[in-house]
Amino acid sequence: MSAPQRVLSGIQPTSASFHLGNYLGAVKQWVALQDEHEVFYFLADLHSLTLEPPEPAALTQRSRQAAAQLIAAGVDPERSAIFLQSHVAGHTQLTWVLECLTGYGEAGRMTQFKDKAARGALDRVSVGLFTYPILQAADILIYQAHLVPVGDDQRQHIELTRNLAQRFNGRYGETFVVPEAFTPPSAARILDLQDPTSKMSKSLPDAGTLNLLDPASALVKKIKRATTDSETEIRYDPKTKPGVSNLLAILSAVTGDPIDGLVAGFAGQGYGALKTAVADAVAAFAEPFAKRVTELMADPAELDRILAAGADRARPVAERTVADVYTKVGFVPPLSRSV
Ligand code: TYM
Repeated sequence: MSAPQRVLSGIQPTSASFHLGNYLGAVKQWVALQDEHEVFYFLADLHSLTLEPPEPAALTQRSRQAAAQLIAAGVDPERSAIFLQSHVAGHTQLTWVLECLTGYGEAGRMTQFKDKAARGALDRVSVGLFTYPILQAADILIYQAHLVPVGDDQRQHIELTRNLAQRFNGRYGETFVVPEAFTPPSAARILDLQDPTSKMSKSLPDAGTLNLLDPASALVKKIKRATTDSETEIRYDPKTKPGVSNLLAILSAVTGDPIDGLVAGFAGQGYGALKTAVADAVAAFAEPFAKRVTELMADPAELDRILAAGADRARPVAERTVADVYTKVGFVPPLSRSV
């Protein structure tokens, strides 16, 4: 990539710890992209109310803990604006306009909504869960982002975002950059260790999820118990050998070694050797990561300062887009508006 582009992404502070899928599918890319691009990374605290709303004190704690995890993973608050979605009012201000451009059926086709809604009785499913992807579109479009580093599960939401950008531009004139998803080659969909037909997720039983803040001994135990198959050969074939291929993808993404080379190196060895290598690599990353998170959490005032500084960088960009959009749709500009 040549000219610096604007990069935007977000992560929900819904649980105490990021899992390995969040890191390899998204956050690791966030770290790499901050070297050459103008980047905005936020904690989607508004989105985290869309399922069963968390205890207020837990949400506050997890939001700071998520900021600490981004920094521990290598997101640098000097180069990256790190902020809370709830600190930049423009996200919800733009959402309304985009909601009015979204078809009811179009929103209903979002597979994440359908999956999540299928797990709860319909009368317990919130309207917020239904409109969630439109808030996500606003998160992206408000920063005129070119690239959105995410895992595979977010692709459909990025597609909706692109459609809404084009629809708005078509109706009101060029306004939004039409963004693209940026996914890592083999780690865009890290699978659950117990059920390697499903993605690793905070909503699946704990035994298949590698939470980065788990003690290293627990991570090792989960990896050693990962589902493989009844063969013995180590081969990368996601269709017929999803469990083994997932372990290879994890090892490759954590170490940076290409999958082909790893497979060649394991020639003649069994699944035990692969699991040991994965466990060692994951523990070598997770141990110092958890230690750094603990250090950062010891100074919540500093985390709050970082989040405030990030929001101060994000807000003017967001306000400019909202002002432009509100004028284009025909709202009378308030006399007091400064941008
Ligand atoms: P969230 O919080 O569920 O996940 C954060 C990021 O982690 C990726 N991810 C995975 N990648 C690979 N394998 C997995 N098993 C795996 N599980 C999760 C997700 O794809 C995501 O990139 N809706 C978003 C948050 C959001 C957002 C945005 C993202 C809100 N607004 C604007 C980008 C741009 C979400 O719930 O991610």
